[in-house]
Amino acid sequence: MNGNFDLVIFGGTGDLALRKLYPALFRAECDACLHAGGRIIAAARQKMDDAAFRDRVSEALNRFAPDIIKAAPDGALARFLARIAYFALDVNAPEQYRELKARLDERASQTVFYLSVGPALFPAIIDGLKTSGLNTSETRIVLEKPLGRDLVSSRQINDLVLDAFSEAQVYRIDHYLGKESVQNLLALRFGNTLLEPLWNRTWVSNVQITIAEMVGVETRGEFYDSTGAFRDMVQNHLLNLLCITAMEPPSSLDPDAVRDEKLQVLRSLKPWTQESLRENIVRGQYRAGSMGGQAVGPYLAEAGVTAGSCTESYVALRTEVANWRWAGVPFFLRTGKRMAERRAEVVINFRSPPHSIFDSALAPNRLVITLQPEESVRLYTMAKAPGDGMRLREVYLDLDFQQFFRERRQDAYERLLLDVLRGNATLFMRRDEADAAWRWCQPVLDHWAAEQTAPIGYAAGSWGPPASSRLTAIADTAWHEELNI
Ligand code: NDP
Ligand code: BG6
Repeated sequence: MNGNFDLVIFGGTGDLALRKLYPALFRAECDACLHAGGRIIAAARQKMDDAAFRDRVSEALNRFAPDIIKAAPDGALARFLARIAYFALDVNAPEQYRELKARLDERASQTVFYLSVGPALFPAIIDGLKTSGLNTSETRIVLEKPLGRDLVSSRQINDLVLDAFSEAQVYRIDHYLGKESVQNLLALRFGNTLLEPLWNRTWVSNVQITIAEMVGVETRGEFYDSTGAFRDMVQNHLLNLLCITAMEPPSSLDPDAVRDEKLQVLRSLKPWTQESLRENIVRGQYRAGSMGGQAVGPYLAEAGVTAGSCTESYVALRTEVANWRWAGVPFFLRTGKRMAERRAEVVINFRSPPHSIFDSALAPNRLVITLQPEESVRLYTMAKAPGDGMRLREVYLDLDFQQFFRERRQDAYERLLLDVLRGNATLFMRRDEADAAWRWCQPVLDHWAAEQTAPIGYAAGSWGPPASSRLTAIADTAWHEELNI
């Protein structure tokens, strides 16, 4: 259990707060994981009193977390809403931080500042906290992703935040690291001996990591259009999945032991060359199409998107982790909006048997770790088909975690928020990790900025531009769904 706390959410009326943060905190309330005296203070510009804001949170819970509301113990909602207060503040108005300080100084508690606003507002908030003396050694600060929009701006933010707080007080969030299924990837790799001897260039021919979404840009058109899939998903979520898949076993689960190993992977990513920038990345943007039988419009018709925008809603790329374990093994990463399915998965494609004694073609073994929507591990193997002769067919061993674990799974934001309140930084990015990720990403951003070419169109509801199949074909493989039995 965490101690008494004051959680100040800058951007407390925004989409992230309403859709994810309050539902996660409410779940923690239902599980009696929040200290009885803990306060949640939402800060944003709009003028409103506590009662009006509590109504808004209640509405959001009913809309975005009806299952939690339905299963909530008696009195939990009233208790939760009673913790919530609203504080009208423009983050660019320095004098308003003094009023916030007066509010927080009313009592002793662990104070957490959660920056649930775009990165452009981070400098003003950090400065406001520092100037008003709110950055005491007892406080913690949570920075939402993306941390800046490029290497320079992320370094500026990191310099500013570390001028006001110590590294141990800073929690750089990537909610993928809080997902149960992503943690299970650690368990699968380091809680078993079975896979480790095969987890290297000798036995693995290529690795594919996908985060495919069916949603479009929803209400975030303006933000997304100035961000794009590469900054929104590759720089953080996909690189974190890559790190957990490729890293060496850490000596313990100590925050720095894990983060040191992740950092080594980021530092080992093969640097981009002019040729690989041209050949190994596909940028796409969705056109009109159909999702689940419903016609959907193109990216360019989304609210908040500028006319003729060249922002990508899809990226597929090929890279390599240039170290002894992985040298020469292609790692394919891809993400996109308005794709055929919602699916996040890590696929390990093993090498073909060195010699075949059968007439049938042998499909290489494949380990498919599905992270969402359902969590499972599937191992594709060859087996004899019943009947005369030795005809082999691909089959799979299936491990469905829902069947094994009936317990409720903690939501990513719930776990991460509780970790911040308890002071556990294992699942948060350290400065050097964030820096290494941006350093590897920057040449891609520079290349696109110089090239100024439009992304390739793909139909909404498809698996992205056909050109992405070219990336895998060069390595003599295909995307997992193209291989499916
Ligand atoms: P929104 O645009 O929905 O919300 C922005 C919030 O900031 C609002 O509460 C707004 O309230 C407040 N705000 C804006 N300007 C000021 C200001 N000058 N002073 C005080 N408050 C201000 O953004 P999101 O909630 O979608 O995103 C917030 C951050 O979280 C972004 O960095 C985003 O990348 C990240 N994120 C979002 C996810 C999502 O699913 N939405 C997922 C993962 C990360 P008001 O206008 O009343 O001031
Ligand atoms: C966020 C991105 O970080 O992750 C969104 O900003 C994306 O664009 C979301 O939709 C995906 O998260 P999840 O947990 O739904 O896979």
